[in-house]
Amino acid sequence: MLKTLVLASSLLGALAASVPGNSFTPRGAHHGSTSHHSSTTHHGSSTHHSPCHPQTSHTPHKPKPCRGNKPWNRDQWCDYDISTDYTVEPVDTGVIREYWLDISDVVVSPDGVSRTAMAVNGSIPGPTLFADWGDTMKIHVTNSLSTSLNGTSLHWHGIRQNHTNANDGVPSITQCPIAVGDTMTYTWKAEQYGSSWYHSHFALQAYQGVFGGIVINGPASANYDEDLGHIFLNDWDSQTVDELYFTSQRTGPPRLDTGLLNGTNVLGNDGDASQTGSRLNVAFKAGKSYRMRLVNAAVDTHWKFSIDNHTMTVISADLIPVQPYEATYVNIGMGQRYDIIVTANQANVADNFWMRSVPQSACSNIEAADNIKGIVYYGDSPELPTTSKHDWVDSCDDETANLIPYVSKQVSAANLDELSTASVARNSDGLFKWYLNSTTMLVDWQYPTVQSIINGTDDYDAYEDREAVIELAEADQWVYFVVATQMPIPHPIHLHGHDFFVLAQGSGTYNSTVQLNLDNPPRRDTAMLPAAGYLVMAWQTDNPGVWLMHCHIGWHTTEGFAVQFIERASEMTSAVTAGDEEQLEDVCSVWQTFKNDHMVHQEDSGV
Ligand SMILES: *[C@@H]1O[C@H](CO)[C@@H](O)[C@H](O)[C@H]1NC(C)=O
Ligand SMILES: *[C@@H]1O[C@H](CO)[C@@H](O)[C@H](O)[C@H]1NC(C)=O
Ligand SMILES: *[C@@H]1O[C@H](CO)[C@@H](O)[C@H](O)[C@H]1NC(C)=O
Ligand SMILES: *[C@@H]1O[C@H](CO)[C@@H](O)[C@H](O)[C@H]1NC(C)=O
Ligand SMILES: *[C@@H]1O[C@H](CO)[C@@H](O)[C@H](O)[C@H]1NC(C)=O
Ligand SMILES: *[C@@H]1O[C@H](CO)[C@@H](O)[C@H](O)[C@H]1NC(C)=O
Ligand SMILES: *[C@@H]1O[C@H](CO)[C@@H](O)[C@H](O)[C@H]1NC(C)=O
Ligand SMILES: *[C@@H]1O[C@H](CO)[C@@H](O)[C@H](O)[C@H]1NC(C)=O
Repeated sequence: MLKTLVLASSLLGALAASVPGNSFTPRGAHHGSTSHHSSTTHHGSSTHHSPCHPQTSHTPHKPKPCRGNKPWNRDQWCDYDISTDYTVEPVDTGVIREYWLDISDVVVSPDGVSRTAMAVNGSIPGPTLFADWGDTMKIHVTNSLSTSLNGTSLHWHGIRQNHTNANDGVPSITQCPIAVGDTMTYTWKAEQYGSSWYHSHFALQAYQGVFGGIVINGPASANYDEDLGHIFLNDWDSQTVDELYFTSQRTGPPRLDTGLLNGTNVLGNDGDASQTGSRLNVAFKAGKSYRMRLVNAAVDTHWKFSIDNHTMTVISADLIPVQPYEATYVNIGMGQRYDIIVTANQANVADNFWMRSVPQSACSNIEAADNIKGIVYYGDSPELPTTSKHDWVDSCDDETANLIPYVSKQVSAANLDELSTASVARNSDGLFKWYLNSTTMLVDWQYPTVQSIINGTDDYDAYEDREAVIELAEADQWVYFVVATQMPIPHPIHLHGHDFFVLAQGSGTYNSTVQLNLDNPPRRDTAMLPAAGYLVMAWQTDNPGVWLMHCHIGWHTTEGFAVQFIERASEMTSAVTAGDEEQLEDVCSVWQTFKNDHMVHQEDSGV
């Protein structure tokens, strides 16, 4: 069956119109020769059903989406705009955008030091996937990890997967790992718009390099001239995360060599003959304004991002547009994204400026902490800047106080109030495991929860109560969830399947006197649990599925800092399509054979 699927979809791809997907959207100032335009033309293809005209199947008065706005009206999107509430008025273009991605073992040297890694289509970051608001994405992912013989999966971070749970890409929860040689097709709708990323959810593989950007074109809450695309902020080491995993379990998170800006950086001091690698260079033209899409894709680093002498306008946090605000730097936790606009208005100060990604000391551990920098230049070519950094206090802060979602929403009283405490302890082998409410998650790659539910099994016990299941059976209820910790370490908490509301966040012990913000609080998919503090989250049970919630510190996810919410289990069989169910079984049966043939051993939590 899988074969038929792949065949059918490549046929579709071949027949697809060659109309470039981004022909009406703003094009960025591109560094290097590839523009968004041509990369979409060459690598992705889309089947257009008259994108800017109402479809014949539509009722005549149905508002139409469109693909494009201009530097002076970024808040517009044809019949929709920045104030459209897409949870009430869903946008549907009828366009299917198809991509093929290939994950393989590679040798890379992003800082000039050669080592093995894993990558999507051979590059770190992998190719950016583009969609327009309301498009449907269809992404064929092939596992070609023939050297490491790792399984794989891709998770579409922040994508709501509204009624498409089986496409969420989490081994043990929504699928089995994809075996070497196998292909899985993920189909989901771009109901939201803005910047996100995809990454492997198999063991620590995302931090081996298996990630890339997602751009969903739509309106924006402030104007800008050009779109520069993503800037990924990563930490990096000459040893792989798989090599470091054992150390991380025995002695805690290891110190890492350096960091990368969009997959590149130097190692060693400027001027030293031994310096290797190269910096990210970004060209500015005086007077223009640039949009940049920041993603923290680190395994264990919390950053402050800034450009010397420039200010930035923050327009979006994760996939939620916010009222624009000015800042000299932005705090960015693992898994979080910020879209910023920077105006090139400092040409009178200098020609070259440092762009800085600075690890914060209480929530990071990097050797070359003050040398994770790129260059913004106004001249013909970049030269070493002599500028100095904006003032700030080193801290693990979140942006919460600044974030006012553009589309305002109120939170209702909770129907369910849960409390969970995060802690760490050593297991009987002396290895660190993370606990949420005294459970350290352990789930089995071979038995995804979604499959158990479809099979009609209501005990998910491959491992006797270690699956960390929380059931949310009722539809459309408000759920409040408190995560608290006494440990002096902050954690980025990420929820799948929902944008949650941040009701409170603070240090100290949570109790019922804590004031909750119910009046248009920030909503997003990743927020910080402060050190020795609490995070109060809320969402509505409007999406049947099994949704993982976990700490986005890579080491902590693999060490079991996760729970899974089973939302509206009774509706799961109807929420998982027959095609998805068939694929789930195919991928699992291929994995089972592969696992047995190669005696694959699961070393971690399974997510
Ligand atoms: C990724 O690589 C595959 C296999 O080489 C190729 O068919 C596909 O077009 C590439 N996809 C992108 C988005 O570059
Ligand atoms: C989510 O899916 C449900 C069921 O298919 C649908 O009624 C609803 O409109 C969808 N929401 C959005 C925002 O598309
Ligand atoms: C994945 O590949 C890495 C690198 O070869 C290896 O260390 C690790 O054990 C593999 N993991 C699994 C589960 O196959
Ligand atoms: C970062 O890399 C991605 C993927 O190649 C690319 O789309 C984007 O434009 C790059 N960003 C910058 C600022 O060069
Ligand atoms: C550039 O930024 C530095 C550090 O914030 C500041 O000291 C300096 O005055 C700025 N220069 C100008 C000309 O604005
Ligand atoms: C966690 O433990 C607390 C205190 O024992 C309990 O009230 C709560 O229901 C538990 N929450 C979950 C999600 O298991
Ligand atoms: C579900 O049923 C399939 C087909 O009968 C079986 O192969 C699989 O092991 C079952 N999985 C679970 C998690 O119960
Ligand atoms: C609740 O927490 C606040 C702030 O941490 C504290 O001042 C207060 O004493 C606590 N109240 C109770 C009843 O524990």
